[in-house]
Amino acid sequence: MSMNLSQAFDEIVQRRRSNRRFDTQIQVPDEVIQKSLDRAILSPNSSNMQLWEFYWISSPEEKAKYEKLCLGQSAARTASHLLVFVTRQDHWKKHAQWNIEKIKASMTGEPSKSEKRALDYYGILMPILYRTDLFGLSTLVRRAITFVKGFSNPFMRFAGIADQRVMVHKSCALAAQTFMLSIAAEGYDTCPMEGFDAKLVKRALQLPNQAEINMIVAVGKGTNEGIYGKRNRLPIEDVVFKR
Ligand SMILES: Cc1cc2nc3c(=O)[nH]c(=O)nc-3n(C[C@H](O)[C@H](O)[C@H](O)COP(=O)(O)O)c2cc1C
Repeated sequence: MSMNLSQAFDEIVQRRRSNRRFDTQIQVPDEVIQKSLDRAILSPNSSNMQLWEFYWISSPEEKAKYEKLCLGQSAARTASHLLVFVTRQDHWKKHAQWNIEKIKASMTGEPSKSEKRALDYYGILMPILYRTDLFGLSTLVRRAITFVKGFSNPFMRFAGIADQRVMVHKSCALAAQTFMLSIAAEGYDTCPMEGFDAKLVKRALQLPNQAEINMIVAVGKGTNEGIYGKRNRLPIEDVVFKR
């Protein structure tokens, strides 16, 4: 009898552990990484703006470079692949335009009401959300709109540059999670890392200023020694509040 989806998902979630030491004799096949990246890009992401990039570090020479930038962590040292999850806030204009093209391509004549709304969403709202400038004028404009609109009614309180950064990091982390669950489903293991030198990783990838490293995921065949302890979690009632 085939396993039902709920059982299968439970098995994947239970299997995924952060493993800090991979078996260096076992290479994770490229197809496993490829398939997991294909799944990762299906992750939910803010306004389908897809302001993310995935750098697949695979060659031994490149890996050696990034091991060091991951501060010599054993997960990085023993990984068969390293995946760098990157946010690309700076691509907002290009991706808003891409979304507009997609909407236009599916139109048959003049835009319908919902098509018009979708076009305005990418043509008007996205610039408000994502525009940045040297003097913080766009932040001022955003704050002004928020103040007026949010005065008496609930309103999405977009404001400063920090909010824009949070926005792109959320979506990118969801892609990383889909990727890690996929690797677990394929019978291999991962370790997400934020212990790295972000400035030097950015430089190594030749990324512009606005791009940021979300996390680096080490992939390999996990070992028992790579599991550092029991999977402790706070009691569910300490973190879940049903209203
Ligand atoms: C954003 C993020 C950053 C992390 N950074 C590191 C890291 O630098 N090194 C490491 O060994 N583990 C790192 N971890 C793994 C966590 O320690 C681990 O997920 C947590 O202890 C729960 O264990 P589990 O993943 O096995 O369920 C990171 C996890 C996340 C989500």
